[in-house]
Amino acid sequence: MVGAAMNYRHAFHAGSFADVHKHAVLARIVAHLRQKPTAFRVIDSHAGAGRYDLLADQATRGGEWRDGIGRIWHRPFGGSDAAADALLAPYIEAVADCNTGPSLRTYPGSPLIVRHLMRPQDRLIACEIEPRAAAQLAAALRGDARAKALVIDGWTAVGAYVPPQERRGLVFIDPPFEEAADFAHLAAIVSSAHRKWPTGIYLAWYPITTRAAPDALARRLRRLSVGKILRCELSVRAPAADAGLTGSGLVAINPPFPLEADLRLLMPALARRLGRAAAAPAPRIDWLAAER
Ligand SMILES: C[S@@+](CC[C@H](N)C(=O)[O-])C[C@H]1O[C@@H](n2cnc3c(N)ncnc32)[C@H](O)[C@@H]1O
Repeated sequence: MVGAAMNYRHAFHAGSFADVHKHAVLARIVAHLRQKPTAFRVIDSHAGAGRYDLLADQATRGGEWRDGIGRIWHRPFGGSDAAADALLAPYIEAVADCNTGPSLRTYPGSPLIVRHLMRPQDRLIACEIEPRAAAQLAAALRGDARAKALVIDGWTAVGAYVPPQERRGLVFIDPPFEEAADFAHLAAIVSSAHRKWPTGIYLAWYPITTRAAPDALARRLRRLSVGKILRCELSVRAPAADAGLTGSGLVAINPPFPLEADLRLLMPALARRLGRAAAAPAPRIDWLAAER
């Protein structure tokens, strides 16, 4: 929340396996939104800096991109996973749009990935509260009338900007989880936003270290009356108290119909490529709630 000490810097984690997971799914949802000619809007509540230099100090020290985008950049799955390459294409094209030729130097954050996939009629609201990241975000989006960077608390922004006038689109919620309370907050925000905009798509990310918090979130979400909830988790190691981030979780509320099938094709290929231990749990794709 706003009052928290904001130590989180996404530059350390840009392009990590968790970014690949969340951005690949984000790009699939936007690709499906593009299937209809009517305009859509994306509200990115915790947008980050927008663009990350993978050779700069923070990304180099973190080094996480080497085990994320570094494992798939210019390395198509091919063979029996060729269909997964096609599903990953919108995401890979957004990364390519930030780079020249085959070298990988810059990694796009969620707002640039969304913007790359938008058409002239579509709109983006990107919110970021940390001043330095907010300034970088504003610079990254400057000059594009379709995209607005706002220095605003993302939780407040979700309440303020739904429903968008287009009445079609996505709210992407990707908080830093510096506080365990972010899990509870996420469920509360999804619940109140859904009351105002029941037909919107919501995609929210959460970290997996141990099972306790993700399982509590799933129980909380199941109790909400928010229609269909598809969960997608990608783990690279077995969860353990001292193992740090072992997996990346997403919940999609009102997902586009083809998303489940996309994920069932894409996630096993990603898990094979990004996994770091044979003991890593298989990707999990399941419904926390069906239509009521
Ligand atoms: C996980 S990062 C976002 C990454 C970005 N969504 C992406 O995929 O490229 C979380 C971001 O939320 C920002 N943040 C933290 N608290 C916030 C708040 N209350 N409102 C908006 N942004 C916040 C952090 O500064 C950080 O840049």
